[in-house]
Amino acid sequence: MGEVQVQASIQETVNRLQIQPEQRVLDIGCGTGTLLQTLLSFVSETNLVGVDPSQEMLNVAKNKLPKTIELKQGDAEKLPFPDNCFDWVISTNSFHYFSHPEKAIAEAKRVLKTNGSVVITDWCHDYLTCRFLDLILRWFNDAHFRTYGSHQCQVMLQQGGFRNVSIEKYKLNWFWGMMTAKAIKP
Ligand SMILES: C[S@@+](CC[C@H](N)C(=O)[O-])C[C@H]1O[C@@H](n2cnc3c(N)ncnc32)[C@H](O)[C@@H]1O
Repeated sequence: MGEVQVQASIQETVNRLQIQPEQRVLDIGCGTGTLLQTLLSFVSETNLVGVDPSQEMLNVAKNKLPKTIELKQGDAEKLPFPDNCFDWVISTNSFHYFSHPEKAIAEAKRVLKTNGSVVITDWCHDYLTCRFLDLILRWFNDAHFRTYGSHQCQVMLQQGGFRNVSIEKYKLNWFWGMMTAKAIKP
C-alpha cells in the first residue's frame, strides 16, 4: 500500500470515530505513527499510545510525534498494558499480520474499559483485488498472515465477546477494497 492509500485509509477510519479529547486511545500496529499523528487534532497527546513489535517503525514514529506520546514495543497478541485502561483500541492496515487474530481480539477487549470501542480497518477479502493480493502475499511474504471478509470479521468480533458489531466496506480506488469494523466491549 502506498503512502497516499495509507493516508486515505486512516482518514476513512478517523471519519468514523467520535473520540472525546479526554479519552485514552491505543493504536495497535502503529507503525510509523501516521494514525497517531492524525489523532493529534482531536485527542490530547498524553492520551495517545502506540504499540508495535518493530523497533525500527517505532523509531520513525518517535521522530515525528511529540515526545509525550507513549510508544511501546509489543505484540497485538500480548499487549503490554493492564486491563481496562483505554476508551478506544484502533488498528489500521495491520490486522492481516496477526497470526492469532482471536488472541489479538481478546487482548483488545482486555485492555478496553467497559463500553470502550475497538475499531479495525484493514484490506477486505470481499473484494476480488484484495483476495488476489492475499493469495500472492501468503506465498511470497512471510510477515503476511491473511485477510478476512466482512462476515468473518463480524463473527470473530462477536465470538470475542464484543457487542454492536458494525462493518463498513468501501474502496479507496479501483484496487484497494477496505473495511472498518467497530464494536463495543459490553
Ligand atoms: C502496514 S503497517 C501499518 C502501520 C500503521 N498502522 C498504518 O496504518 O500506517 C503494519 C504494522 O503492523 C505491525 N505488526 C506486525 N505484526 C504485529 C503484531 N503481531 N502485533 C502488532 N503489530 C504488528 C508491523 O510492525 C507494522 O508496523
